[in-house]
Amino acid sequence: MNTPRHAIRSYVLRAGRITRAQRRALDELLPRWGVPYSPAPLDLAAVFGRTAPCVLEIGFGDGDTLVELAAASPQSDFLGVEVHPPGVGHCLLAIESRQLTNLRVIAHDAVEVLGNQLPPSSLDEVLLYFPDPWPKTRHHKRRIVQPAFTALVATRLKHGGAFRLATDWEPYAEWMIEILNAAPGLVNAAPGGGFIERPDRGATRFENRGRRLGHRVFDLEYRRT
Ligand SMILES: C[S@@+](CC[C@H](N)C(=O)[O-])C[C@H]1O[C@@H](n2cnc3c(N)ncnc32)[C@H](O)[C@@H]1O
Repeated sequence: MNTPRHAIRSYVLRAGRITRAQRRALDELLPRWGVPYSPAPLDLAAVFGRTAPCVLEIGFGDGDTLVELAAASPQSDFLGVEVHPPGVGHCLLAIESRQLTNLRVIAHDAVEVLGNQLPPSSLDEVLLYFPDPWPKTRHHKRRIVQPAFTALVATRLKHGGAFRLATDWEPYAEWMIEILNAAPGLVNAAPGGGFIERPDRGATRFENRGRRLGHRVFDLEYRRT
């Protein structure tokens, strides 16, 4: 059964600046390194031409961290989902120049990708780094971390799989803990049920921005039961 189209989205697509190279990448490289969105379940082994652990990054931004991760982990496959065209273009250019065979991009809403395109128990890890914090109270409904979303992530993870998150917005960090600690099928990996020590992951663009602003960074890890 397909997930119904959700009305409230976690992003607003603005007609932002896109470079000529990014535009060319969307036109010429997306057909090669992208996976078109479709509500039909995806055969990951067919996409990557092998069976390997699969990591999904939601909202990869410019993709630099994801590209480094994929290059450093050739034994795993990586799917990046992002809606911001310049970021998708930037990531495609990096995939092309590094000739990465273990990274593919889906330029679509991650909630629909998770709900309709990714089969249950198909992912070893889901990464959600520095999602838009939507700080105003009237916008909290736009935060991607919601009870229905976390329940969906849990069903797409394999048993024992990891859901890793980070944010530099303390109220959102508390929001995440509250929702995720109550999520069915997920267990907080921190001994006290709170945040974990910062793992050895590359610093993302938004993390660096947050640090420049003096923000503390919060990391969370959950395991699928
Ligand atoms: C604040 S940025 C963080 C980007 C990157 N993870 C980083 O840390 O630099 C959040 C990103 O999530 C993307 N995003 C938000 N909602 C999304 C959704 N439902 N599906 C896919 N991408 C989404 C936005 O387009 C944006 O690029």
